[in-house]
Amino acid sequence: MIIAIDGPSGAGKSTLGKMLAKEFGLLYLDTGAMYRAAALAVLRARVPFEDSEKVAEIAANSKIDLTGEPSSMKVLLDGEDISSEIRTPEVATAASVVSAIPAVRRIMVEHQRTIGNSAPNGCVLEGRDIGSVVFPDADIKFFLTATPEARARRRFAEDSAKGLAASYDYTLREINDRDARDVSRPDSPLTIADGATVIDTSGLDLNEVFQTMLENVRTAR
Ligand code: DC
Repeated sequence: MIIAIDGPSGAGKSTLGKMLAKEFGLLYLDTGAMYRAAALAVLRARVPFEDSEKVAEIAANSKIDLTGEPSSMKVLLDGEDISSEIRTPEVATAASVVSAIPAVRRIMVEHQRTIGNSAPNGCVLEGRDIGSVVFPDADIKFFLTATPEARARRRFAEDSAKGLAASYDYTLREINDRDARDVSRPDSPLTIADGATVIDTSGLDLNEVFQTMLENVRTAR
């Protein structure tokens, strides 16, 4: 079983994706973490993002692995644990820029299909193009969304807890900039895939969203 979860940053995809994976014994794949890992490799190599050929070469030569249970998932770059390092606003912005390069997307999509198809019980994948490009024939597709303000509030609280946040206004601006880039890029923009169930999580608590998703999965199975 393949479950696709797409939507903008801060809509709750990761938390709910992990909960669904645990509930049904599926592998969980955070595809944004893969773009973040590639972006970190580019930042470390000090290659300018405009040099898309070099950026794609770095992405192709980086070994990106996601290991462990959903709740304690580790992201490895060439064997090094970079799980915390990729969660900074700087890497988030870099990932959004790097992910607009078609050659980078081709590498990541291939990797994601291989991982999804080889999961013994199936896989929950979350990202921006899962239901539209990576697995257009997914058994179940969700599109989670929320107002930019609701998403910025959640992201600001998360970043503050990690000692990272600058201010709510900065977080909101960063979310709006990232949305604009993710929606407007020509290759695989963030979009609602055909057949996706859209859930606006702005006014809902986590459990309400989870119950709605569970019902959808149980009906589709
Ligand atoms: O979900 P996230 O914030 O970790 O994603 C980081 C960036 O990666 C985001 O700005 C868009 C990009 N991304 C993408 O283009 N396609 C995906 N399937 C997942 C993420």
